[in-house]
Amino acid sequence: MNKILVTSALPYANGPLHLGHIAGAYLPADIYVRYQRLKNRDVLYICGSDEHGVPITVSADKEGVTPQDIVDRYHAMNKAAFAQFGISFDNYSRTSLKVHHETAQEFFQIFHQNEDLIVKSDTQFYSEKTKQFLPDRYVEGTCPHCQYDKARGDQCDQCGKWLEPKELINPTSKLDGSTPVLKKTKHWYLPMGRFAEDWKVWFDSQSWKENVRNYCLGWFQEGLGDRPITRDLKWGIPVPLEGVEGKVLYVWFDAPIGYISSTKEWAEQKGSPDLWKDYWCDTDTKLVHFIGKDNIVFHAILFPMMLKRAGGYVLPSAIPANEYLTIEGRKISTSQNYAIWLKDYLESFPPDPLRYSLAANAPETKDTDFSWKQFQSRNNDELADILGNLVNRTLTFIHRYFDGKIPPQNALSTLDKEMLKVLMDAPSKVGALIESFEVRKASMTLMDVCRAANKYFNNAEPWATRKSDADRCATTLNICAQTLKTLAVLMAPTLPFSSVKLQKMLNIDMLPSWDDASNENLPEGHPIGEAEILFAKIEDDVIEKEIEKLKTIDSEDNSPKKPPEKKEPAQIDFDLFGQIELKTAKVLEAEAIPKTDKLLKLQIDVGGEKRQLVAGIAQYYSPEQIIGKTVVIVANLKPAKIRGVESNGMVLAVKSENGLNLLTPDGEVDSGLRVS
Ligand code: MF3
Ligand code: ZN
Repeated sequence: MNKILVTSALPYANGPLHLGHIAGAYLPADIYVRYQRLKNRDVLYICGSDEHGVPITVSADKEGVTPQDIVDRYHAMNKAAFAQFGISFDNYSRTSLKVHHETAQEFFQIFHQNEDLIVKSDTQFYSEKTKQFLPDRYVEGTCPHCQYDKARGDQCDQCGKWLEPKELINPTSKLDGSTPVLKKTKHWYLPMGRFAEDWKVWFDSQSWKENVRNYCLGWFQEGLGDRPITRDLKWGIPVPLEGVEGKVLYVWFDAPIGYISSTKEWAEQKGSPDLWKDYWCDTDTKLVHFIGKDNIVFHAILFPMMLKRAGGYVLPSAIPANEYLTIEGRKISTSQNYAIWLKDYLESFPPDPLRYSLAANAPETKDTDFSWKQFQSRNNDELADILGNLVNRTLTFIHRYFDGKIPPQNALSTLDKEMLKVLMDAPSKVGALIESFEVRKASMTLMDVCRAANKYFNNAEPWATRKSDADRCATTLNICAQTLKTLAVLMAPTLPFSSVKLQKMLNIDMLPSWDDASNENLPEGHPIGEAEILFAKIEDDVIEKEIEKLKTIDSEDNSPKKPPEKKEPAQIDFDLFGQIELKTAKVLEAEAIPKTDKLLKLQIDVGGEKRQLVAGIAQYYSPEQIIGKTVVIVANLKPAKIRGVESNGMVLAVKSENGLNLLTPDGEVDSGLRVS
C-alpha cells in the first residue's frame, strides 16, 4: 500500500498562531490526515517550528531579547495550541535541533560538491549605523511588481512575489529607518535557471491546483535566475565550508528540509532511525504539502528542485495551497494586532465549533471571510440544531421508550430504505471530497446527511408509531442509532472531540474504519450511554464581546474598512457631563508596550492612588518625555484590556496637524483633583 506523507508549513516561531494560519495550512491537513488514518492508510503527518530567518531576529531586536528566547517561547506556545486544537501531528519538531542543522548542511554540501552552486561577489544593503548587512525583512520598500509600499525585502505580501531587498523601490532599514547603503559581500547562489527546463518537465507531468499552476507558470516565464541561498547573519545554520565565517543558510533553503529532519526525529523516537527513508526515498510515497498561497514558490519550485538535485527523494504530488482568510471583512495583520489568536479562542470556546466553521468556509479557491456572527450561526444553527439535535432526540427516545437499548430492526419501509441509502453513499461521497482537498464541500455534505436524518425522524413520526405500530417505531430508532454510528466516523476528521463524545454516548470504544462506517450496525440490545449536550449554544452577548474586541483595534489607513460616519454630537445636559470624572494625574513611570508602535504603558498617581493606564501616544511622546508630567484623565472609565494590558482610565490629548499634545494644567497643581 502506498505511503502518504503529509506536511503543513512550518510556522515561524516568532509569534502566536492565528485563525489565518489554521484555516490555510493546518486544519485542512489535519482533516485529510485523520481521514486517511480511518481509511487505514499508512499516513505520516509532519510539522515543526521554523526557527531561523529574519522574522525571528527582528522580533528579538524589538523586544531586546535573544533569538533563542523568542523561539523557545513560541515553539512551546504553538505546539501546545496545536495540540489543544486537535491538530494531530505525528511529529512537531523544530529547526534549531542538531539533526536539522546537520541535514540542511548535508544538502548544501551535496550541491557544493556537485557544483550546483555559484559563488558571486555582489553588493548588498548594509546599515552604517548598526554595522550590519540587512538581508530579507530587515529592509522594506515599494514592490517593483505591484507597487505595494510595504513590501518586505524577501517577499511582497500583496502580490506574493519572491523578492530580493535590492529590487525594492525606496528601500529603508527596518532597524533604524535609514536608507541603507550598498556594500560588497560574497554569497552562494542556486542557479535555478539552469534547472528550470528539467523542473518544467516534471511540473507539467503533474496535476496541480489552479492557483499553484498559474503562479508557477508565471514565474517560469519571467525566468528563474540565480537565487542566493546564504545570508550575512549570525542567527541560522552556519554555511558548512572551511574558512567561511558569519554566514548562514537562507531560511527558505533550510526550512523545507525541516520536513525531512522532523521525519528523522520521528523515526529516531520510534526506535527505527532509518524509517524516515521509507517515506522520503520511496517514489511510491504520495507527498502532500499543505501551505498558504504565499508559500507556493518555495514548495512548488525551490524545494522540488532541491530534492531533485540532491537525488533519491520523492517529489510532491499535491500542493493544496489555500488562499487567505480575512476577519470581519478586513485583512489579518499581525503587526497591527488585527487577528483572532488561536490561544484566545481556545480560552473561551471548545475546538470543534471553530474547526467546523473554518472547514465549512475554507479559503480553498478564493479568499473567504471569518465573521463571529457566521461562527455563531454555524455552531447554533448547524452543529447544535441539526447534528446535536439529531443525537439528542435519538438517544433520549431510546432511553425513554426502549430502556436505553438499541431496538431491533424489523421490516423496512420505503422511508427506511431511503435513509439507509443515504448512509451507504455517505462515506464515499464525503471521502472523495476530502481526498480532492475540498473540505468545504465535505463539511456541507456531512451536514446534509444530518439534515436528511432529521427529516427521516420527522417523517417517520416515532412518537406516533410508538402507540400505533411498535415494530415500526423500533425500526425507526434502530436506523437513527445506526446513523449516529456512521456519523461518529464521518465527523471524526472535522469534529474529533465531538466524535469521541458521541462514541461515549453510543457506548462504543472503537470506531469502525471509514469504509465500514455504514456497514457495521450497533447490535440489537446494545446498551447506550447517557445522552449529553454535544454542542452548547453560544449566546449573542458572548459574540458581541468578541466583535467589540476586534473593533477596539485601531485600524490603519490602508485597511479596507469604511471610515465611521461623522455625526454632529448631540447636546447633553449638565447631569451627564457631571458623570464624567475628569481628574489630574501625575505620570510616575512609562514604558513602551512591546510589539506595538503606538502604545505606552503608564503608571500614574491620582491623589495617592496608583493606577496603570495605556495611552496611544508613543508616536509623539517618548517615555522620558512624559514621566513627571501632570496630565488630565477620565478617571471613571470602565477598565479595559488593550493588547492584553490593563488600562484604568484615559489620558486627554488633542490631535492636530502638528501632532499630538497632552492636556496639562496651566501651573503647578496636585494630582487627583477634579477637573470641572
Ligand atoms: N515559516 C514559513 C512561513 O510561515 C513557512 C515555512 S514552510 C517550510 O511562511 F517549508 F519552509 F518549512
Ligand atoms: Zn507586490
